[in-house]
Formats: sequence, structure tokens, C-alpha cells
Amino acid sequence: MKILFYDTKEYDREYFEKHLPEYPGIEIEFTKAELQVRTAALAKDCDAVCTFVNADMNSDVVRSLAAEGIRLILLRCAGFNQVDLDAAKECGITVMRVPGYSPEAVAEHAMALVLTACRRIHKAYNRVRENDFSLPGLTGVNLYQKTAGIIGTGKIGAAMARICHGFGMNVIAFDMYPNRELDFVSYVPLDELLAQSDLISLHCPLTEATHHMINLETIEKMKDGVILVNTSRGGLIKTDDLIEGNRRHKFFAIGLDVYEEEKNYVYEDYSSAILSHSTTARLLSFPNVVITSHQGFFTQEALTAICRTTLENAECFANGEMNGNVVTQ
Ligand code: NAI
Repeated sequence: MKILFYDTKEYDREYFEKHLPEYPGIEIEFTKAELQVRTAALAKDCDAVCTFVNADMNSDVVRSLAAEGIRLILLRCAGFNQVDLDAAKECGITVMRVPGYSPEAVAEHAMALVLTACRRIHKAYNRVRENDFSLPGLTGVNLYQKTAGIIGTGKIGAAMARICHGFGMNVIAFDMYPNRELDFVSYVPLDELLAQSDLISLHCPLTEATHHMINLETIEKMKDGVILVNTSRGGLIKTDDLIEGNRRHKFFAIGLDVYEEEKNYVYEDYSSAILSHSTTARLLSFPNVVITSHQGFFTQEALTAICRTTLENAECFANGEMNGNVVTQ
């Protein structure tokens, strides 16, 4: 089993090279190239390709891979909305992912964004570095005894619910499939969650139904002074409406690990460039907004789990076995 590993970052190489000897029979070739139609040919002579969450695997890309003889796409991430699954199925390519590698990593990052944004740590950090020890503008809010509304209580949402519960918050949630293990959570309709929550944290996948679920209409239904956090997918929030809502002083704090414009910039260093987009810049101009670059998953534990599961997926496929991580059926 020979895998071409696209868009390799130094941490990918470090973790995969460390664990590869545990999987004899698997060979990896690393490239920094992103997977696109014109780079699909690099996978010639390989059985599989391995890609991350930001690779746009539209039908043209999938067909180009099939033309090179690729039989397996290994996603080293949980989400799979970036792959045209119909095209993969048509081409006889199996797609496997890494579900739930460390829900706590993402949930802990969601809470880190909540605390950073709502206690203005991002501003305080810079102030103290400039020997400015003043406090005006840094007033926060307590979370204790406030209401946390979790949208989507799968693996990550459940971990976030437990963290909020640990902070002494009242936890409510919206999900079509209530998680029975969360006996401290009250499930409510979405409108009720929007109206009652002091903190809203998004943990549902991006689908046609959830695209732009946070828009001016739903923002209007929220409490004034609400804290909103998104560590799920940028498309859940209509960014222009979020900006408008913040201009109307709806939000006390906003924390985003994902946002609509991230696709062209995520995981790259553009610190010396003049960026052509403006939405993220407009968001960053607000003092109550904190943005990180899709790093919710980025812990040592999660990287180890991603690496092991990806290699196990490859091994299963090579042995003609299928596990629960196949997303093309
Ligand atoms: P999961 O599949 O365990 O849970 C998703 C939950 O959302 C399920 O309970 C499902 O019933 C619910 N859901 C689906 N449609 C919904 C709707 N319209 N309204 C309310 N709930 C709905 O997924 P998991 O592992 O918890 O991941 C959640 C999301 O987190 C992923 O879809 C992915 O987009 C994102 N993610 C972000 C990462 C980061 O680094 N920031 C890393 C990993 C995942």
C-alpha cells in the first residue's frame, strides 16, 4: 500500500514518520503540493492519497485521481463535506476518515475561545506587553450559573456540554438525536435555545440544512449580550450577518476557529502579504472578536490519534477489510 500524502506540514511528517514503523506494508511519500486536478498526476503508481480538511475534492479532482489508478482517499480529518462522494462512488474510490479523534481537543479549544473573547485576554495580553496595566475595556462576564446552548450534541458537542456543566452553567441543547448520556442537559427547540442561551456553541456538521443557520433572522432571536462560538464549519454562519449583528451590539463576545473565508488562507503564512479579502479583516477590527485558524484539533493527543487511525484505515483497506470509518457506501 503506497500512499501519497498531499499538503504535508512539518507536524504531519513528524507524527506519521514516528508511527509508520508500526504498520509494515505501508509506504508513504510526502509532498507539500495541494491536491488539485493538475497535481493528481503526482499520485501515479500510488494506491491511495491522504488529504486534510482544506483539500477541495470536487468531481474533477476525484476523477483525475481515478484516472491515476487511486482506489482509496484517506482523510486525515473527521469532516468529509469537502469530497464529492457521488463522484468517488462512481469512480469506485473508497473514502475513509478519522471520526472523533479527540473530541475534547476541539471542545477545549471552543472553551478557550469563549474565555479569551469574553475575558478580553487577547487585548490584555497585548496591553501588558506594552507596560499598559490599565483595565478599562477589559470587563468580562461570569459563566457560572449562566445558560450554555449547544447546537449538535455528537462527540464534540457532548464534550463541550460537559465542560460547560463543569463551569457551573445550566446546559441546554438542540439536536434531532438527543444524546441520552448527557443527563444534565435539557433538549429544547432551536428557537428556545437561541432565546435562552448566554453562550451558544456550534457543533453540528455543515449540511444543506445547517448552511447559514446563524443569520440575521436567527441572530435577532438571540439574547442581547450573547457569546457565540463556532469551532465546527465556517458555512454555518452567514458572516455578513454576523458583522451586522455585532454592529447592532448583539454579541458580548464572538470566538471563531472556522469562518467562511478560511479556505484560501488556512494553514498558510500570509503575514507579509496584502490580503485581497475583507470579511475576516472586518471581523478582526471588532474588540470582542477572537479568531483562530482551524486549530481546534491541534493537540499532541489528537495528532497521534489522527495518525494511528489513518494508518489503520489504510491497513484495513489493504487487507480487504472495512471498518466503520468508510464514508462511501
Ligand atoms: P458528530 O457527528 O459526532 O456530531 C454531530 C451532531 O450534530 C450529531 O449529533 C447530529 O445529530 C447533529 N446535527 C446534525 N444536523 C444538525 C442540525 N441541523 N441541528 C442540530 N444538530 C445537528 O460530529 P463531531 O465529531 O462532534 O463534530 C462536529 C463538527 O465539528 C464536525 O462536523 C466538524 O465540522 C467540526 N470539527 C471541527 C474541528 C476543528 O478543528 N475546529 C475538528 C473536528 C471536527
